[in-house]
Amino acid sequence: MILIFINQESKILFNIYKKIAFNLPPEVAHDYTLKIAEVIYKSFLVKFLKSTPNIEPINKLNIRFQNKLGLAAGFDKNGDYLNFINNIGFGFIEIGTVTPYPQLGNKKPRVFRIAEQDAVINHLGFNNKGIIHLKKNLINFMDKKTTPIGVNIGKNATTSIENAHEDYIYCMEKIYEYADYLTINISSPNTKELRKLHHEDRLSTFLGNIKKSHESLEKKHKKLTPLFLKISPDIDQDDIASVSSMIKKFDIHGVIATNTTIDKEVIQNEIYRDYEGGVSGKPLFVKSNSIVKQMRENLPDILMIGCGGVNSKKTAQEKVNQGCDLVQIYTGLIYKGTKLINEITS
Ligand SMILES: Cc1cc2nc3c(=O)[nH]c(=O)nc-3n(C[C@H](O)[C@H](O)[C@H](O)COP(=O)(O)O)c2cc1C
Repeated sequence: MILIFINQESKILFNIYKKIAFNLPPEVAHDYTLKIAEVIYKSFLVKFLKSTPNIEPINKLNIRFQNKLGLAAGFDKNGDYLNFINNIGFGFIEIGTVTPYPQLGNKKPRVFRIAEQDAVINHLGFNNKGIIHLKKNLINFMDKKTTPIGVNIGKNATTSIENAHEDYIYCMEKIYEYADYLTINISSPNTKELRKLHHEDRLSTFLGNIKKSHESLEKKHKKLTPLFLKISPDIDQDDIASVSSMIKKFDIHGVIATNTTIDKEVIQNEIYRDYEGGVSGKPLFVKSNSIVKQMRENLPDILMIGCGGVNSKKTAQEKVNQGCDLVQIYTGLIYKGTKLINEITS
């Protein structure tokens, strides 16, 4: 699905590649593109392709973000493409969502492009190879890593919502010492009941359990790996207030706002409105900005990462204007390729 062309300057080649890729089913295009890119970036060619924007790094929470732009979760769910994504100019990268055990995710087809709005609907459902696989990849990559890598954690589909914290704790324990930060993902619309974790009572119990384990991991490893919470754009005023107060209560270090939206009103062409899943890209921009703004008002000092609909330097700047310290992208890459990274960071 993703359109990355190795020569970032080459518009013509990129457009040819995009035509070919857009004729393939989105998931197939994504996998092929990343496999090819990874082989190229693993080879000696990486020396010539490596993109290093000339920008002052940003130090926050003891993490040295190379620049403000990060890769959002879901692009490399298993850490299989680290040679590639470490070298294309991102200031930080987030891998996952990973769950304790491998799972296939929802039935295919489950990713759809809405090209006229530079958007995607996905109903993947945390398809991934499990935390042990991701951990091996991360350990093997440690000596080549030049960009901070966060790990986004979720729960297996078969784990009940009441026991969800056990899956997150299991993953945290496995990956704590290797990750630069950990993201607790409660906002995918494609795992049954997951978003119920935004409600105050559940969130309090859930985060309480997670925080307890996080504190003992901090002691054990003598290292603080910051904890971020990734939230939904579809929450109402009450949930915004309770999520904010729980973040304060449990001293969560950062917020990622937001995941995809299930509000199909943002889609212009009605034929796509029946597709199951979350909408990302351009139609999500305004909605996710509104969440950022409200969360920022409630949490003036938190590390805020804005995600949703960024597809240009201007839209990235708008996230910063709304109160974001850092910005992440995913769908913009599908439509603009890696030249979008250069555009935003230069
Ligand atoms: C195909 C696809 C898969 C995704 N998978 C994940 C995921 O596994 N975990 C997650 O937290 N977010 C996932 N996301 C959401 C993105 O990380 C991001 O929050 C959302 O797409 C909004 O950003 P964008 O408009 O720049 O794409 C996925 C998005 C897409 C399009």
